[in-house]
Amino acid sequence: MQSSRVDVDLGSRSYPVLIGTELLGGLGAILREQGLRQTNAFVVTNPQVGALYFSALEKALTAGGFTRVVRHEIPASEEGKNWEEFSGVCAALLENFPDTGAVPLVILLGGGVVGDLGGFAAGVFRRGVPFVQLPTTLLAAVDSSVGGKVAVNFGGVKNIMGVFNQPRLVVCDLALLRTLDAREVRSGASEIIKYGAVCSGALFQQLEDGGLEKLLALEPEVLTDIVARCVRLKADVVEQDELDKLGIRNVLNFGHTIGHALELSADYALTHGEAISVGMVAATRMAVRLGTVGEDFQKRLTALLTRAALPLSHRDAPGLFDRVLRALQLDKKFRDGKNLFVLPTGIGSWAPRENVDWALVHDCVRAVLV
Ligand SMILES: NC(=O)c1ccc[n+]([C@@H]2O[C@H](COP(=O)([O-])OP(=O)(O)OC[C@H]3O[C@@H](n4cnc5c(N)ncnc54)[C@H](O)[C@@H]3O)[C@@H](O)[C@H]2O)c1
Ligand SMILES: [Zn+2]
Repeated sequence: MQSSRVDVDLGSRSYPVLIGTELLGGLGAILREQGLRQTNAFVVTNPQVGALYFSALEKALTAGGFTRVVRHEIPASEEGKNWEEFSGVCAALLENFPDTGAVPLVILLGGGVVGDLGGFAAGVFRRGVPFVQLPTTLLAAVDSSVGGKVAVNFGGVKNIMGVFNQPRLVVCDLALLRTLDAREVRSGASEIIKYGAVCSGALFQQLEDGGLEKLLALEPEVLTDIVARCVRLKADVVEQDELDKLGIRNVLNFGHTIGHALELSADYALTHGEAISVGMVAATRMAVRLGTVGEDFQKRLTALLTRAALPLSHRDAPGLFDRVLRALQLDKKFRDGKNLFVLPTGIGSWAPRENVDWALVHDCVRAVLV
C-alpha cells in the first residue's frame, strides 16, 4: 500500500498531511495518535459526499471513542460557498454545542467548498475550535486542504470573507477520489499543472512524460507521489509566508486573477480548476506579450492542458466580458487601481507584475472569450 506523510512546519500550528489509501476506516485511531482527544465531532459535508462516505466516517469515529457525531450538510457547489451557508454552519455549531465543556472536533469531509467554508466557521466559533480536513477531491487534496486559507465568497468577490486558520491534521484518503467525476479529476489536474508550471520544473516534466495520464487514471503509485509532491510544494510556500504578507504565497495564484473573475462571472458554468486553466492561458498570453516568458512555455503549457482536456478558453456570452472586467476590479488583490498578476518566467519559475496596462488586460481577457 502506498502512503506518504508531509509535515507542514508552522511552529505551534504545525500539522501533518497523511496521504494514502484506505485511511478513512482507521481515522479514529489516527486522530487519537495526533493527540486529538475530543469525544464530540461536528462533520461538515455535502449531500453527495455525505451519502458516499459519512457512515464510514461515523463508524471510524465511534470506533475511536467519539460518543456524539453531528452531521451538517451544505450545498454541493461553489454557489453554496456563501455567507448564508456559513451562518448556517455557525448556527448548527451553537445549537448542538452550547456548552463550553463539550467543544467538538470539526471534521470537514469534502472538496474545497466544504473545506473553505467549514474551516472558516471552525475559526470563528468560540474564537476557534480545532478542525481536521478530509479532502475528497483531487483539488482539495493537492491544494485547498493545506495552508489554512479559509473563506466564503461575498458581494460577488471570491474568498473575500475569511481568516487564516490552520487545520490540526489533514488526512487524504486517495481511495475516496475513485467516485469523482472525470471532470472533477481534470479540475484537480489543473492546479497540479499550475504547481508544475510555476513552482517545479521537475513536476511539469513528470506530467509531460506520461505522469499526467496516469494521474488522470488515478493510478495509485503516481497519484500518491504527485499529491505528496504538490502538498510539499504548497507547504514550502506556506511555511515561508503563512499569512500572505511577503508576496511569496502569490505564486499559488498563477491563473487565478482572471480565473477567479471568470469563475464568478460565468454563472458557475466552470469548475474552479477549469476557470484556472483558462486563467493560466490568459496570464501566459500576458507573460509572452510582456516578454517574461517565450512562446515555448506557452506551447508546453497549452499542450499539457489540452492533454488533460481542460479548457483553453470559454464561450463568450452577452455582457460576460464586462462582468469579468468588473470582477477583476473587485479581486481581493486589486490595489491602487491595479491587479496583481503572477507571470511565469520559465517552467517552474515566476514573477509578480502589478503595472500591467489595462489595454493588455482587456486583450488577454478578450482572447480567452471566444
Ligand atoms: N483554501 C485554498 O487554499 C484553496 C485553494 C484552491 C481552491 N480553493 C477553493 O476550492 C474550491 C473548489 O474545490 P473543489 O474543486 O474541491 O470543488 P467542490 O468542493 O465544489 O467539489 C466538486 C464536486 O465534487 C463533488 N465531490 C467531492 N468529493 C467527491 C467524491 N469523493 N466523490 C464524488 N463526488 C465528490 C462535490 O460534491 C462537488 O459537486 C473553490 O471554492 C476554490 O476557491 C481553495
Ligand atoms: Zn485554485
